[in-house]
Amino acid sequence: MYAFPWLLLLLLLQEAKGGSGDDVDPEEVVAVLQESISLPLEIPPDDEVDNIIWSSHKTLATVMPGKEGHPSTIMVTNPRYQGRVSLLDPSYSLHISNLSWEDSGLYQAQVNLRSSQISIMQQYNLRVYRRLSIPHITVNFEISGEGDCNMSLMCSVEKAGMDVTYSWLSWGDSTYTSHEGPVLSTAWRPGDSALSYTCRASNPISNISSHTIPAGPFCADPDYASKKPSTDCCLLTKGLLIFSLLVILATGIWVIQVQKRCRMPRMKKLRRTE
Ligand SMILES: *[C@@H]1O[C@H](CO)[C@@H](O)[C@H](O)[C@H]1NC(C)=O
Ligand SMILES: *[C@@H]1O[C@H](CO)[C@@H](O)[C@H](O)[C@H]1NC(C)=O
Ligand SMILES: *[C@@H]1O[C@H](CO)[C@@H](O)[C@H](O)[C@H]1NC(C)=O
Repeated sequence: MYAFPWLLLLLLLQEAKGGSGDDVDPEEVVAVLQESISLPLEIPPDDEVDNIIWSSHKTLATVMPGKEGHPSTIMVTNPRYQGRVSLLDPSYSLHISNLSWEDSGLYQAQVNLRSSQISIMQQYNLRVYRRLSIPHITVNFEISGEGDCNMSLMCSVEKAGMDVTYSWLSWGDSTYTSHEGPVLSTAWRPGDSALSYTCRASNPISNISSHTIPAGPFCADPDYASKKPSTDCCLLTKGLLIFSLLVILATGIWVIQVQKRCRMPRMKKLRRTE
């Protein structure tokens, strides 16, 4: 019996939003790939629900409220959602688990009330995102004759997907600056204090920072980037040299031992004949 004021309020609200029924902005819902989400439903508490039809592109499920203390039943009509949807009693909110990319998109709940001919419509825009992995940094630098150094730092995330934003943080002795965007171009002169850089990647469900990159070594020492492989190479050469020496030494010892063993029986024989 309280249905009428509620519907009036709903209609007024929809009017206020500047549209009738269908062009109400859908509620934005963000979710994590392979995790679950609830599409919250708000039904006036005093209204008796006849049924609720959930749909996304096509009908997804039909909900029948339980009678006389029995739990509500949900009949899933789209096989793609079979075994993945359930109801959150007593609100009739729809719970979807193990989300996939294909679950993104518009959803609608059509709540048919027993007391009136008008149904309550609620719309959702579900967006599914992946949790971001640690960003990678690519460094490009150029050094002029005077030692001036231009650096370009590029930040990227593997399988980033949609709606990823990047930002850079740099700090030195007393400075602390930030920069929006995946590429940071910066210059360094001999005598400047060495800065450190960190990239942060964000999407609507996660944010994660890269390892910290020091600028100094790249600019002050042009061989910095190529040093690691070269030391690795030198280590390998040294290792091989030591290994060869050991082999030669071992062979030498073995040869001497064999020679000794060959001589011993002869000496014994000699002793016997004496
Ligand atoms: C989740 O869905 C994927 C396919 O989208 C399936 O391979 C996987 O087994 C499902 N995981 C669970 C826990 O149901
Ligand atoms: C560094 O960039 C400036 C402009 O930003 C340019 O004039 C200069 O030649 C560049 N230096 C090197 C070594 O690339
Ligand atoms: C980054 O994510 C954490 C949770 O992982 C959250 O608490 C924090 O507010 C987020 N920061 C930004 C700037 O998005």
